[in-house]
Formats: sequence, C-alpha cells, structure tokens
Amino acid sequence: MHYLPFKGDGLFHVDCDHKYSITCGIYYCTTTEGSRERAEAACKTIKETSGNQNVFVKIIDLSIMASVRKFAEDFTKEEKRLDILVNNAAVSGMKKTMTEEGLEYSYATNYLGPFLLTNLLLDLMKKTPNSRIVNVSSIVNMFGSVSFDTLNGEKYSIAGTYYDTKLLNIMFTKELARKLQGTSVTTSCLHPGSVRTELLRNIPVFVRVPFQIMGLLFFKTCEEGAQTTIYCAISEDLQGVSGHYYMDCKDYENTIWISKQAYDEGLCKKIWEVSERLTESK
Ligand SMILES: NC(=O)c1ccc[n+]([C@@H]2O[C@H](COP(=O)([O-])OP(=O)(O)OC[C@H]3O[C@@H](n4cnc5c(N)ncnc54)[C@H](OP(=O)(O)O)[C@@H]3O)[C@@H](O)[C@H]2O)c1
Repeated sequence: MHYLPFKGDGLFHVDCDHKYSITCGIYYCTTTEGSRERAEAACKTIKETSGNQNVFVKIIDLSIMASVRKFAEDFTKEEKRLDILVNNAAVSGMKKTMTEEGLEYSYATNYLGPFLLTNLLLDLMKKTPNSRIVNVSSIVNMFGSVSFDTLNGEKYSIAGTYYDTKLLNIMFTKELARKLQGTSVTTSCLHPGSVRTELLRNIPVFVRVPFQIMGLLFFKTCEEGAQTTIYCAISEDLQGVSGHYYMDCKDYENTIWISKQAYDEGLCKKIWEVSERLTESK
C-alpha cells in the first residue's frame, strides 16, 4: 500500500479525485477540527469517485511543532512505508503573529512545519524504495530574500514573508537533495502556476477582488494547477532526479525563475542548521 499525505482543498483535492487515488492509500491532512467536516466530505467524494477506500483524514497544524510531532509519531507507528510526501499547505497575506511555541505563524506554516514533518518522516521514506518528497513553492520565490537570522519573522512584511517562505521551500529542497545522496529518496520543488484557489483569503478585499476577477479570466483551474505536483510525485522522467525546480511539468533549473540565493550552498546549509534549532529537531 502506498501513502500520500497531503494537505488542503485547493490544489491537492483535485489530485486525489483522479486516477492516482485508485491504487494509493491517501492521508487527507487538515488543519483543525473545524476543517474536519470539509475534509471528510472531500474524502467521501474521493472514495466514491475512485473506488479507493484507503483514504483517511488526519489533523495536523503545521504552525505548531507539537502537532507536527504528534502526526509524525502516529503515522510512523501505523504505517510501514511512505512513498510520496507532498508539502503543499501554505498561508499568505498574514499579519505577523507569534504562535504559543514562539514561532512566527507564516514561517512556521509555510516552511518550519514542513521542514520538521519531512525530517520526522525521513527514516520511513528511506525504508521505502524510490520514495519522493515534493515541495510546492511559487514563482514569487524570485522576489524573496532570506537570511539565516530572520527565519522567525525578525524581518517581516506581509507580501515579503510569503516570498521568503517560498524561496525557503526551494533552498530546503536543494539542501535535502544533497543530504539524500546515496539513498533512493528524491525531492523536487515546483511552481504550480497561478491557480484559482483560496490562497488570497487573508489579503485585503481591495487587492483580492481584482485578483479574483483576473483569476476567472486567466488563472488555471485547480485541476490544471495540480498537474506539476502530480508530475513531480509520479512521473518516471524524474526517477533518480533530485533537487530540481519545475513549472508546467518541465525542468526549470538554472533559469531566471529561481532566486540566485537558492544556489548558495553555504547559505542553504546554514539555514538548515538554524531550522533544526528553531524546530528543536536535532
Ligand atoms: N494558488 C496559486 O496561484 C499558487 C501560486 C503559486 C504557489 N501556490 C502554492 O500552492 C500551495 C497550495 O496553495 P493553494 O493555492 O491551494 O491555497 P489554499 O486553497 O489556501 O490551500 C492551502 C491549504 O493550506 C492549508 N493550511 C493553511 N494553514 C495550515 C496549517 N497551519 N497547517 C496545515 N495546513 C494549513 C489550508 O488548510 P485549511 O483549509 O484546513 O485551513 C489550505 O487548505 C501553496 O504552497 C502555495 O504557496 C499557489
């Protein structure tokens, strides 16, 4: 049995409605008990349309490291393998907020939570042949500018923080790929395109509405937006390829669409070390 833990209604709901769910066990991970009802409804649809009954709802709050640890602990107790991990969840447009654990909410949700989750599931993935970790980033990583001493919101702006966390997703992928050399686990990151989802729910209405109108005309549907994630998760073209960045199901390594900082190996390494300290994972 294969498991695909993922998150969200937007881009990933669609992936699971389709044929890939037929042979896979799927964990539909949702943020809070409040979201459970929506997640259960989505699972029901997935089960009905695919015939696959191995679909489960689990609660994980990526902004809270205790929640991430609890999820990983339960998962590793219950499961013997993990083939595909998709780190898809993110927030944007949030004001600076500190969590009860002293982490900044957007950094924790978009980057530190997925960092910790991946590390906690890594032993299981190493035991699973050719497993894959897919990190959903964004083209706006190009506008990001990160430093190892600002990973907890020390430098904060509403838009800038989203850009920075999306760059961190790429830097994480690259450092992870280096650490995974010699194993059969691979990792990749991607920009899904501009997609009609709920991602802009937290930004002011006067910015959101023009985007929504533009979205109706020009943005991808969720189904279209999910394709590059699916490609990274299952395409045979990517067998053995690790650390690369994709858009529209094509390799965009070493193009202008990635910030140069992503190629600074020293910085990626240092950011990894600080992330371990912030998430208390070492
Ligand atoms: N939409 C685009 O145009 C676009 C463009 C580039 C990149 N992306 C990337 O695509 C990915 C998916 O975003 P989307 O567009 O599908 O947005 P979305 O519709 O807002 O979905 C994001 C999901 O993240 C979940 N989430 C938020 N906070 C969380 C937390 N603390 N713990 C666990 N889950 C949490 C939300 O869960 P709940 O519903 O339970 O709150 C939501 O379902 C993101 O990484 C985003 O950066 C999107």
